[in-house]
Amino acid sequence: MSDLVLSRIEDHVGVVTLNRPDVLNALSLETMKQLVAALEALDEDPHIHVIVLTGGEKVWAAGADIGDMADASVFEMYNRNQFARWERIKRISKPIIGAVSGYALGGGCELAMHCDILVASETAKFGQPEINIGVMPGAGGTQRLTRCVGKHLAMEMVLNARFIDAHEAKAAGLVSRVYPKEQALAEALKLAHELAKRPPLALRLAKDAVLKAFETTLSEGLEYERKLFYMLFASNDQKEGMRAFIEKRKATFTGT
Ligand code: CAA
Repeated sequence: MSDLVLSRIEDHVGVVTLNRPDVLNALSLETMKQLVAALEALDEDPHIHVIVLTGGEKVWAAGADIGDMADASVFEMYNRNQFARWERIKRISKPIIGAVSGYALGGGCELAMHCDILVASETAKFGQPEINIGVMPGAGGTQRLTRCVGKHLAMEMVLNARFIDAHEAKAAGLVSRVYPKEQALAEALKLAHELAKRPPLALRLAKDAVLKAFETTLSEGLEYERKLFYMLFASNDQKEGMRAFIEKRKATFTGT
């Protein structure tokens, strides 16, 4: 993996770090290519159960790389098909915990919203400031942000480039935990190691079912949930988990 994105493994947790600090981790086409490759490699690795994505202590990502787009024509943008990569991030089946410090703007905020659990440091600032450069969000900002924080705050952020800090993001439901800067990544890793002890198949199917809630009616979502619930009765981990409960011992999950 070249150095725009770093990837390492800690037991059953894969840690992916955006690594373009000189341009606030701007998500260039090459950065996105490497990011998707790193995430897919971890998703395919049976040893990995959970992924942590971070930009480091100073910044998460200040958006798509404006230099990549400034002079592009409509058909250059169309042929580039850059959003296909975002679709691949959406399809990662293992839980992704985002550890956000500093700016998470534009595509950076959209990337954060592709994570399944978001831990923020007190320095985090979320925003969709594309309006300032004559465009609007293109990687899901108008849709995911609205579903997360509701119409009125989303409108302020998208139409008026308003930034929100970590505490406002938590109050609005965009992140679930806030920590001092130096603790955020460590806490995200701690949470990831906790999740990694859980039955991996159930983790992935449960993620799938929660995400389905954004796509369906309640009845279709309930039907989908029920099918995945039944499916887990084909796993050894269901037998082991329930037997261990009855025998009053700790379960040993194998991911099978
Ligand atoms: N693309 C390319 N380079 C970027 C960048 C971006 N999105 N954001 C920051 N940089 C670069 C700056 O050009 C600067 O580089 P140089 O040192 O070579 O000049 C470096 O990062 C540091 O940035 P600043 O000097 O601007 O730092 P600051 O602290 O004064 O300001 C900031 C920080 C408010 C985040 C400001 O950099 C900024 O407004 N950045 C752009 C944010 C933005 O508009 N994001 C949306 C992009 S479009 C998008 O994401 C579309 C989509 O939905 C897919």
